[in-house]
Amino acid sequence: MHPAAQPADSISLISKVSCRICQSELLPILDFGKMPLANAFLDQKDFEQEYFFNLATGFCSRCFMFQLLEQPAPEKMFHQAYPFYTRSSQRMVEHFKQLAETLKKFLYPGAFLVEMGSNDGTLLENFQGTGIECMGIEPSANVAAEALKRGIPTQIDFFGPQVAAQLAKQSDGADVLVAANCLCHIPDLASVFSGLGLLLKKTGVAVFEDPYLGEVLAKTAYDQIYDEHVFLFSVTSMSEMLSSYGFEIFDLEPQWTHGGSMRYFICRKGQREPSASVAAWLAKESEAGFKTLKPYEEFRKRVEISKVQLLECLENFKRQAVPVAGYAATSKSTTVLNYCGIGPELISFISDTTPDKQGKLTPGSHIPVVPPEIFHQANPKAAVLFAWNHAAEILRKEENFKASGGKWIHFVPKVQID
Ligand code: TYD
Repeated sequence: MHPAAQPADSISLISKVSCRICQSELLPILDFGKMPLANAFLDQKDFEQEYFFNLATGFCSRCFMFQLLEQPAPEKMFHQAYPFYTRSSQRMVEHFKQLAETLKKFLYPGAFLVEMGSNDGTLLENFQGTGIECMGIEPSANVAAEALKRGIPTQIDFFGPQVAAQLAKQSDGADVLVAANCLCHIPDLASVFSGLGLLLKKTGVAVFEDPYLGEVLAKTAYDQIYDEHVFLFSVTSMSEMLSSYGFEIFDLEPQWTHGGSMRYFICRKGQREPSASVAAWLAKESEAGFKTLKPYEEFRKRVEISKVQLLECLENFKRQAVPVAGYAATSKSTTVLNYCGIGPELISFISDTTPDKQGKLTPGSHIPVVPPEIFHQANPKAAVLFAWNHAAEILRKEENFKASGGKWIHFVPKVQID
């Protein structure tokens, strides 16, 4: 049985109506209703045990953190059958190569680098043969096995004070801790920062990269909201949260990844001079009303409109008897498909390069996932681009689809046929 299909009472649901950072009451923003786990691709025989929770977001008016109201327990999401491999995108492989170059500015031969959520080792492999000591911490055993196969030291675990204390004992402490698209997945940030406090050298640096709330709002990218993304950080909320744990941001760099991310350079309070960009981003967010409910309420209205428009678009194709495919069975697509109520009657199949997803059905919506070869053979007239964040790579790769009359259906930043 798929680990995510275990009955709800075997692994408890973490339910929260108060802020995970400051315990204030959360103000509800958006309720997507009943939702499966974004990566729980399944077989027909597992339908009866399919797990659902209520996907809804809230905003803390005290520390300004945008977060899920409920989140399934981490063990339910990250396990030996987690189907997301970083190296499934060539552009991500290149991105991590560049990130490694940035990190090397804080490292030297003999230095110690720890990656939290190291996945298949795509980042750490760039340090092989450099004399920099590396350790990846990754709770999902199958993706960690890929890293181990490539000779990248990896411990299968969740990062927290225990793991940190053990690593600190084996070394003089970490010079750098890096986590890309990982921190936003962790509900218990107190445990992460208690670990970081134990492990990071006094002058050490932590680098986090996470989907940026400002981009989610600007692009109406509501599909970034799913079980794994318990937080969507802004510079404002990140800064408040870090301060409560004794850390601060000393620099920022926006990134293209995951549809628009922010890279945060972090140190212990007072250890480095913050760059001018930190104050500039805080001012920009303040002007945009990030500390008020207004931008989130406007976002909710745009999300509701987007749903109506996407359904109208797909129903139009159906009325004309034009079959529509999906492109990339992303985690994000689970939110779109289930929130909009789209199933195999509107999208006949979804093409995806991940072998672990192929032959399975999408969570909740039960659309078959097929390898790209089937997409090419079927040559559909229209396809919904679910991996819109990889549009540049995909549109280049799939030039023939357009050339032979195929239409891309986009829904971020708005519903559009191209
Ligand atoms: P990503 O947007 O990183 O997914 P998520 O929403 O889960 O973070 O996209 C990764 C998924 O997209 C993965 O299932 C592989 C698939 N994919 C393709 O099928 N073809 C492609 O060309 C690319 C880039 C991704």
